[in-house]
Amino acid sequence: MQKTIPQPWLDFFQKHAQELTSEQVQPFLDQVTSVQWPLVAELVDEHVLGHSAQNSDQDFSSLAPADFIGLETSQADQSAVLAGECLIQNGQVGVVIVAGGQGSRLGFNGPKGVYPIGAVTGSSLFYFHARKVLSVSRKYGKPVPLLIMTSPENDPATRAHFESHKYFGLNPEHVRFFTQGQMPAVDRTTGQPLFSDRNTLALSPDGHGGALYALSRRENEDGLTALEWAERFGVKTLFYFQVDNPLVRIADPAFLGLHSQAQSEVSFKVVSKQAPDEKVGVVCQSPDGRKLVIEYSDLPAHLAEAREPSGELSYRAGSIAVHIFQTEFLKRLATGAIRLPFHKAIKKVAFWNPQTGQIHDPQEPNAIKFEAFIFDTLPLAERSLIVETDRREEFEPLKNATGPDSPSTVRSAMTRIAAKQLAKAGVKVPLDNLGQPLYAIELDPCFVVDQDHLKPTLGPDLKISGDLSLVD
Ligand code: UTP
Repeated sequence: MQKTIPQPWLDFFQKHAQELTSEQVQPFLDQVTSVQWPLVAELVDEHVLGHSAQNSDQDFSSLAPADFIGLETSQADQSAVLAGECLIQNGQVGVVIVAGGQGSRLGFNGPKGVYPIGAVTGSSLFYFHARKVLSVSRKYGKPVPLLIMTSPENDPATRAHFESHKYFGLNPEHVRFFTQGQMPAVDRTTGQPLFSDRNTLALSPDGHGGALYALSRRENEDGLTALEWAERFGVKTLFYFQVDNPLVRIADPAFLGLHSQAQSEVSFKVVSKQAPDEKVGVVCQSPDGRKLVIEYSDLPAHLAEAREPSGELSYRAGSIAVHIFQTEFLKRLATGAIRLPFHKAIKKVAFWNPQTGQIHDPQEPNAIKFEAFIFDTLPLAERSLIVETDRREEFEPLKNATGPDSPSTVRSAMTRIAAKQLAKAGVKVPLDNLGQPLYAIELDPCFVVDQDHLKPTLGPDLKISGDLSLVD
């Protein structure tokens, strides 16, 4: 076992290993040695035992709202669109989906990307993302390599979903899965690492910020990192998003073009926050011009509530986790001395109790999980760009089983957008009094050439639960 494991934990693991059978002991030791224990000890010291407070070094008095490119400009800049299209045509753009989360709020049995979100066919989140990538690569005549981050837990089921759906039409050679790291969950009062059963530590994915390190981790199968694999296609720029937002405009040329024209290392899409208490991180700016995201729970109320003379919230640049990264920037960070910070999340984690030998399913949050967030890369960039988008067009994440951000809100947003695209193509879509289509509608993303144009013929790509008629 590692010499660097803090002594009390090392003693416990060694004693515990002696009680396991010969079949159980090696997997247990492999698991133990996969963890960076000195880091865990530091985090326990800081976040559980309270030896230093999180964000104590954050000086909110010097923070200003971040400058960003507003909606009118971002959507009308034709030179940016051309610049972005040029990047795709030159094969410089790849796509990253982070899909390693546990989806605990949704409560779906399986990877969230497999969730049947299609309003008519029940196609999965992955279907919509993969078909958009295919549509972009067909339009521009270049492969758009797709990188999918999984967790050790959901990797086999994610791969199997792509296999059984023939990669949704993508060339499997243009798709790469890479697996993120894990961190142990610890008891929220003692900081002791938890066991999920007698032989297994309670490990969970290390946050979407784990993508930074997972992209640069060498894989056994071909000796390449995921970034090196993408660079073999000529990729220099990665369009990044989260698996749970099926509205995302993948490889949006306008966003790519603005990023490229600004020679930005990392760019963020934001939407205007609707209310001071909306649970979305806000992009702010420090006096030296560096941008950073402040989590909604950390933004002081007087800033969250501050308004412009126009009535808009001053701190309104809400991050929707749609980003563009230069591969060089990611490599620099992954190999550099600065590590992304870990944030703590207090959660309910079922655990095996060494005293009783029983598994307990707690009613109240009993554990702390540590996660890195990808938005903490923003202040590390020399040049960054923030671009506003319209939330109704591009942001409706699937988070919960019911209520806001649930299957019903996501399906109705997808139907509304499909109806708008059909209406532009001359298809009369019956609407209710609130302007929502009367029927569920689903479009194969390969049918949508870009946001405003559909392929000229209606074919099997259009799935609808009612009648539509073509306008002459
Ligand atoms: P969330 O933080 O919303 O987590 O992740 P989640 O797993 O989807 O759901 P809950 O919180 O357990 O209910 C936002 C996005 O980041 C990815 C998720 O897959 C989702 O696309 N993510 C999150 C990872 O890829 N890895 C992680 O460790 C955490």
